[in-house]
Amino acid sequence: MTISTAKILAKKNHEKIICLTAYTFPMAKILDEFCDIILVGDSLGMTIYGMPDTVDVTLQMMINHGKAVMKAAKKSFVVVDLPCGTYEKSKEQALESAQKILHETGCHAVKFEITKNLVETVKFLTHHKINVMGHVGLLPQHVREIGGYRYQGKDENSAKEILETAKEIEKAGAFSIVIEAVPASLATKISNELKIPTIGIGASAECDGQVLVIDDLLGFNQEFKPKFVTYYEDLAGKISAAVAKFSADVKAKKFPAKENLR
Ligand code: KIV
Repeated sequence: MTISTAKILAKKNHEKIICLTAYTFPMAKILDEFCDIILVGDSLGMTIYGMPDTVDVTLQMMINHGKAVMKAAKKSFVVVDLPCGTYEKSKEQALESAQKILHETGCHAVKFEITKNLVETVKFLTHHKINVMGHVGLLPQHVREIGGYRYQGKDENSAKEILETAKEIEKAGAFSIVIEAVPASLATKISNELKIPTIGIGASAECDGQVLVIDDLLGFNQEFKPKFVTYYEDLAGKISAAVAKFSADVKAKKFPAKENLR
């Protein structure tokens, strides 16, 4: 049975919440055993589609990958990102996008990047019984405006603004909140002051849970390594070695071998 928002909330101060991104059926099938939450993040723009950032990801991409993940996720709570340009114009636009994603994928919640002016949108969606996960701190859909992937909340004013926004998101009814790339002291303060669970990425071990992009955890893309990433495996290296071996076997007529043939 799928984990509920109540169970996720109950983990606060008791047990860390495990969250990873997945975009495909086979990956979600593996992660389902270990995750409380699987996030179909718009990071798929980079990990799957080779885009430079998440800005041009479309609603249809999120729906396609959300559907694939939902086919494999049996117990994890699945959250799908609202991509850039599908929720900022008005709360009605956000509701329409969220309902389309929920209806077409069958996922359990949506996440979107929230600045102060979008708190009312969170309220509107939760009022319409939509589970909302907030996202504060570094907002990757804004990288072109802020000039890259930079830590946020480093000075007193911006730290105060992020904390206040997080509190307002909680008040608006979100069930949890992602805190990305802020100083550990700020992430700890937000986690201590909020009743809903915080999920950190480049934030603090004091957050109620952690999320990583699965491709980063597995060492798929080793060209760009944010400070907050640890490669738990060198999958890029392992894939290269396997493919090199296949190529050598084909050239030496060792593949297909006798056991591969009728
Ligand atoms: O899109 C994504 O993968 C995310 C995580 C980095 C939190 O939003």
